[in-house]
Amino acid sequence: MKTVKIDLGPRSYNIYIGKGIVGKLPSLIKLETRDTPLFIVTNRRINTLHGGKLKKVLMPLSKKILFCEVPDSEKAKSFPVYIRTVRRLARFARKTQPYVIAFGGGVIGDLAGFVASAYRRGVPYIQIPTTLLAEVDSAIGGKVAIDIKEAKNIVGDFYQPKMVLCDLQFLKTLPKKELRNGLVEIIKYGIIKDKELFTFLEKNVKKILKLDNKALEHVIFKSCGIKAKIVEVDELDTKDLRAILNFGHTIGHAIETALGYSRSITHGQAVASGMVMASAIALKLKMIKSGDCKKIYSLVRKVSPEIKTRHIKLKDILSALSYDKKFIYGVNRFILPEKIGRVKIVSKIPRALIKTVIMGEII
Ligand code: NAD
Ligand code: GLY
Repeated sequence: MKTVKIDLGPRSYNIYIGKGIVGKLPSLIKLETRDTPLFIVTNRRINTLHGGKLKKVLMPLSKKILFCEVPDSEKAKSFPVYIRTVRRLARFARKTQPYVIAFGGGVIGDLAGFVASAYRRGVPYIQIPTTLLAEVDSAIGGKVAIDIKEAKNIVGDFYQPKMVLCDLQFLKTLPKKELRNGLVEIIKYGIIKDKELFTFLEKNVKKILKLDNKALEHVIFKSCGIKAKIVEVDELDTKDLRAILNFGHTIGHAIETALGYSRSITHGQAVASGMVMASAIALKLKMIKSGDCKKIYSLVRKVSPEIKTRHIKLKDILSALSYDKKFIYGVNRFILPEKIGRVKIVSKIPRALIKTVIMGEII
């Protein structure tokens, strides 16, 4: 088992990474008594596949365990589901402080974390991510949120878990497209911070997609380490550092919004295209060498195909872009690569350049 520590003073915690490590939970969680209610937020699919194993592991820890199933998909990050979940928690844990466990992908993690942050003005929670994306990104760093019709992740908090446990065995049942989504985020870490990781990925993408244990553990460990270091410096996303985790997400999110989150493309595909487009902008601005740009393109395309869809309109992407949380007073801000392993935040990218790049990549 590998461990990454995320050092945030009193909010510090460990990220544990390994295969079959869920069995170690009893020695890792510190509960005051066996009367502490354990409230596990999950969905039917994950519960059916892996809930039995988790329940068996948790039984010696608590006399009171509830698996609370919420709908699958982004729909779970909504006010109605949030309220239902909080009320179920209140009824289950009457008069005592419960412990919340997020058991699922990023959707479950964001929802359960937000429930834990608000209930009784904050109760402890841990993240047990079951998608690759959640293991390397969403379970770490304490961003918790739900969506409203107007915008995604707009109602939320920063609320750190007590622990993140990444058990690689859960990834065995993950659909390949979800695995690719996670891999896109891992490529992102290589581009923003770690050339060695990027080079490792160039050589080992196939192995990772086949769930080779050693390669997978290595890239998850590296990714968690990179995110941990960034969050340690800029926990609340106010110092222009955490924002670099958004590389590829600026145009990526705009594409998803323009398509109305229609599922015609995956989040990973949108971010992958966003990374290619941000690199193309950097190339046109002469910020990056064409060799590095080609390497980015080639690795991204090994994992995620181009988006070619008739259902997307340039004006919708541009309109969605203007809602980006990084943009300040209407001035755009992009994370652009200078070389593999280093990115920079750049403002005031000419609209004509953004249009050209979007049209070249997807329309
Ligand atoms: P997800 O949670 O929707 O999971 C994807 C699908 O995989 C779901 O259908 C789920 O039921 C299924 N699944 C999960 N684990 C499985 C397993 N082991 N076997 C089989 N099926 C499994 O998607 P995601 O990509 O994990 O997360 C996306 C969410 O994460 C978005 O809401 C996004 O906003 C959020 N996010 C948050 C942060 C953050 O910092 N908080 C960062 C990135 C993304
Ligand atoms: N996923 C972006 C962040 O955690 O800041």
